[in-house]
Order: sequence, then structure tokens, then C-alpha cells
Amino acid sequence: ERPAETKTKRVLLAAPRGYCAGVDRAVVAVEKALETYGTPVYVRKEIVHNKHVVETLRERGAIFVNETDEVPEGGRLVFSAHGVSPAVRASAEARSLETIDATCPLVTKVHKEAVRFAKDDYDILLIGHTGHEEVEGTAGEAPDHVQVVNSPDEVDQVVVRDPDKVVWISQTTLSVDETMETVRRLRDKFPSLQDPPSDDICYATQNRQVAVKKLAPECELVIVVGSANSSNSVRLVEVALQSGAAASYRVDRMTEIKEEWLEGVTTVGVTSGASVPEILVQDVITYLADHGFGTVDEVRTATEDLMFSLPRELRAGLKAAG
Ligand code: F3S
Repeated sequence: ERPAETKTKRVLLAAPRGYCAGVDRAVVAVEKALETYGTPVYVRKEIVHNKHVVETLRERGAIFVNETDEVPEGGRLVFSAHGVSPAVRASAEARSLETIDATCPLVTKVHKEAVRFAKDDYDILLIGHTGHEEVEGTAGEAPDHVQVVNSPDEVDQVVVRDPDKVVWISQTTLSVDETMETVRRLRDKFPSLQDPPSDDICYATQNRQVAVKKLAPECELVIVVGSANSSNSVRLVEVALQSGAAASYRVDRMTEIKEEWLEGVTTVGVTSGASVPEILVQDVITYLADHGFGTVDEVRTATEDLMFSLPRELRAGLKAAG
């Protein structure tokens, strides 16, 4: 084998990466709302968990708030892709807000599962991260029936009313492998544990993990573009490390890359979370090319063509505006 210095330095670029259908829809919804109605358009929480996207929309006039009571009576408010609980909807209604619901349809699907199993009086074990907006929204559909299980280690503490009437559901952006481990332990404890009717971890989360798993064993370094509060981006770093990358770091943008990460590295993997615009990835590719990593090979494990139509309220508004 040739010594490392003479090997061609290269980049393995994961595909799929970046924007999923739910993020694309949510970002376009805010843009269209601004175009159609003008400012102010309020957005509850970060529309998607990406700094660059939020800053860009803020520059265009979107006003980000934490709660509905920060929006003036009758104002126009967009709910983020992560979804909201019925309590939040009710408080928006009480303030007569014009709401546009940009909740990802795949999150709504999990909400519906929670509602249905609660109606049948199941104990619902929601695998996910306490404090994440999506988990707050889903749990809020049935607060008396849902308990959040953060990790496999938390299974020991789970107590249910009737072990024969337990179902698990999950956040959409988790590590597939860790979630399956949690489910395995739950099933050891509750053998009649019921599965959700279909996968709750969404196609985009799964596809991005499969792609990074494929390239990670060949990489001394995997760079994941994504924000610190982006669950699926943070999971990609974990998956890269578990799949054999010698090192992996998450960066919001190219300027956060440290030159020392590249020392002795021949192959760098690059991917991005589901809320990350491609331009941020291309900046990283340019940086790497400037540092001698001129060859870029795409590692594709799936193609995606899913698209969601815009929120109903917005479509109606666009139609009215002609
Ligand atoms: Fe939806 Fe999955 Fe994206 S739940 S917002 S498609 S990461």
C-alpha cells in the first residue's frame, strides 16, 4: 500500500442529504406568506432547526416568537415544521390569530397515532428527546397517556398501568439503530408491546443515516452540516462514528471547520441534515477543495422525489390573492 501522503485526497459526498420534503414546504410556506400578505408574518419557534434559514427569513421580514401570546391579536402566525400541541392551537384561536400550519405531514401522522391510541386508552411510550418541540407537540395530543422515553437506559424506569395495553411511537428524527434498541428493551419488559402502524422515523431521517453509514467506514473524518438543535443532524454525527468514521464533527457552516481536523486525513465524508440548504454544503466542498481535497465522489443510497403541497390555509390565501 502507498503511504498516506501520496494517496489522492478525496471527498465522499452523501446522497441523499439536506432538505427533506417537510422542510422545503415549511420554508416555502413562510416565503409565500411574506410575498402574499407582506410583513409582519410571525413564526412560532424556528420554522426549521437551521440558523442560516432562520436568519435569512428574518432578514426578509419574518418575526420569530416563542409563544402565541407574543403575537398581536388577529396577527398572522406560522406554526413550524415540528408541529404544535392542541393547547397551542387553542391559544392561537383565543387570540384570533390567522394561522398557517407548516407542520410536516409526517409529524401530523404521528400526532394522529397518539390521538387514536389514547382514545383506546393505551399507555403510549413516545421514544424521543424531552424538550424537543416535536416531542412537546406530539405528547400534548394526549398528555395523560403519553410518557417520553429518551434512551434505551430509561426503559428500566418506565411504569405502565396495564402491560398488555402499551404501544410505542417515536419522534421522526431519531437514530434508527438506537430506537430499535430502545424498542427491544421495551419489548423484553412488555412482551405484548404494540408497534406503531407504520414507521415514525421519517424517510428522510432514515435515508440520510443509510447514506452516511455507507461512506463512514472509508472516512477518517465525516463533516455533518447542520445546527446544534437539529436532531437529525446531531444523529448523523453519532451514526458516522458508530459506522466506523475515525472522527466526525457537526458544523453550522464552513467557517467552523478547523484545519487540524484535516491533518493526516485522506478521505473526508460530507453530509447534511434535513434542514440544511445545499449552499452550505457547497461552501464546505469549496473549503475542502482549497485544502487539497479536489476529488468529489457522490455516494448515493437512495433517490427521493417526495413533495408535499403547501399548507391548506396558504393555498386558499394564494388563490384569493390571484
Ligand atoms: Fe418531515 Fe422528516 Fe423532514 S418528519 S420535516 S420529512 S425530517
